[in-house]
Amino acid sequence: MVVIVRLTKMLRLLTPEILDTLPPNDPAARGSRRDLRVFNAVLGNDRWFGRVLPPLVRPGARVLEIGAGEGELGARLRRAGIAADGLDRAPRPTVWPTAARWHQTDALAFDGWGDYEVVIGNLILHHFDAVGLRALGEKMSAHTRVIVASELVRRRIFQRLFAALCVLVRANAVSRHDGRVSIAAGFRRDELPEQLGLDPAVWRWRVTTNWTGAYRLIAERRA
Ligand SMILES: C[S@@+](CC[C@H](N)C(=O)[O-])C[C@H]1O[C@@H](n2cnc3c(N)ncnc32)[C@H](O)[C@@H]1O
Repeated sequence: MVVIVRLTKMLRLLTPEILDTLPPNDPAARGSRRDLRVFNAVLGNDRWFGRVLPPLVRPGARVLEIGAGEGELGARLRRAGIAADGLDRAPRPTVWPTAARWHQTDALAFDGWGDYEVVIGNLILHHFDAVGLRALGEKMSAHTRVIVASELVRRRIFQRLFAALCVLVRANAVSRHDGRVSIAAGFRRDELPEQLGLDPAVWRWRVTTNWTGAYRLIAERRA
């Protein structure tokens, strides 16, 4: 048997995701959101935010979740005592509490960053190219004290593992496509803080990855 291993570096590539183009009630979109719940559970994303966030959020600090989608991470954080506002191009989810704000807008058009000391995001930053990430970083650099993000490691091995997971959980065609292109738009090493333009003299950060293909960034402004 001949095994061909591609040794070329996997360059970051942005491809439009199908879910972003479907009406929210389209059956394929509903199926894909179900799959996303499964993928988040496998990646342990909500558990990770629930573990790392409480010590980083000072009493009274306002938290903004960008790309908050269906609001599930926000609901979990609320149970852990962290009340976040949400931002997404999508409409406010029905589960989002009336006491919390929902900004329905493109993150690049949002101008309320100054209200938030902590910005978090799960599987949102890979949607942006280098120019978009730099613009977001500049907006956050002015006021934000903490950035916590969970993304995907850009490696072919994780595309293969993801394809196997899709078979196991019978993910639909939208999820199979969007997951694969999301990994191709993911990050390695310090790429995310660097593309956000975080200045190491102003910020300290920690990037971790794990065997499931999760890429995690915790960045804190230096005192
Ligand atoms: C892969 S989903 C993740 C949703 C949620 N964080 C989760 O993990 O279930 C990406 C989300 O980012 C939102 N999104 C993508 N690009 C955006 C942008 N430029 N501004 C605001 N929201 C955006 C989409 O509407 C979608 O809800």
